[in-house]
Amino acid sequence: LGAKTEIEIRKIDKIIDFFGITEVQKQVWINCPLVITSPHLVKVHVDMGALVLGAYAPDGQVVGFVYSFPGHRRGEQMHWSHMLGVIPDHRRKGLGKLLKLRQRAEILKTGIELCSWTFDPLQAVNARLNIVALGARTSEYLVDAYGSEGGYLDGGLPTDRLVAKWELTHPRVVECAEGRPERASFSPRDLQMAYQAEKVRGVVSPSKPDLSLKDSHIGLIVPPEINGLKSSHPKTALRWRLVVRQTIPGYFEKGYSLVDCLTPRESVSPNFVYILHR
Ligand SMILES: CC(C)(COP(=O)(O)OP(=O)(O)OC[C@H]1O[C@@H](n2cnc3c(N)ncnc32)[C@H](O)[C@@H]1OP(=O)(O)O)[C@@H](O)C(=O)NCCC(=O)NCCS
Repeated sequence: LGAKTEIEIRKIDKIIDFFGITEVQKQVWINCPLVITSPHLVKVHVDMGALVLGAYAPDGQVVGFVYSFPGHRRGEQMHWSHMLGVIPDHRRKGLGKLLKLRQRAEILKTGIELCSWTFDPLQAVNARLNIVALGARTSEYLVDAYGSEGGYLDGGLPTDRLVAKWELTHPRVVECAEGRPERASFSPRDLQMAYQAEKVRGVVSPSKPDLSLKDSHIGLIVPPEINGLKSSHPKTALRWRLVVRQTIPGYFEKGYSLVDCLTPRESVSPNFVYILHR
């Protein structure tokens, strides 16, 4: 908490500050230089109504940011949150959550009550932040959302994404903002898993998924560190991508949505476990 309180979150609109944001992007997306947004595009975008919040350390260094803009998607008015990033040395101190909560407050001031963004279903830490800490929900799965040309984004994996819907005035989101996230209530002992994680030649890999489960809560295993797997065992990483691609939309079609994400400590296993519920 000490480190968090020394950080100041500021709404920024000056070109000089956007250079700082570019520096953060270089550290956060170190392996994907093509995702970086140029300072002058951010400047133009903010002049047109985009919102950029920077997290500043006491020495003036920007250590994180969140970037969103208003628009319409599928008939709904919303802010689309394009980027959230915290540099590695400042992670796990609550900054990502703090930036999102300030983003929520700023968006609400404009009268907009919905914020959406995409996240990779294999990035369990992001799911944890979005679903548990922020109270976002998702029932939309995009296959290869941004294309996989030259492996520019996901290191050669198809860029599948979930669309997060953050309903800013929903009681669940208000409770999250007040630090009281609602957790799914189910009996861990009776939880049916859509597939198992099994070791294949020393590497943990998902078994064939079962799409016929009918329980109110269904568990879905996600490895804790997909990024390492992408480079060390790309075939296994692809297998995770394809099994999750089959499972999540398969259950979305039956009316399930993603409502919780257990950390390895909570799931008493080496993996994260997502909870689907209907
Ligand atoms: C995602 C990211 C912004 C999170 O930033 P952060 O400052 O480390 O996040 P916080 O400390 O605010 O943590 C937010 C929540 O996620 C959880 N979390 C964060 N890192 C975690 C980890 N390694 N393992 C388990 N949970 C984790 C925290 O427990 C916290 O939840 P809680 O409040 O319920 O405990 C940061 O990891 C990052 O920049 N990643 C790369 C860029 C990226 O993927 N951005 C897209 C985000 S959708």
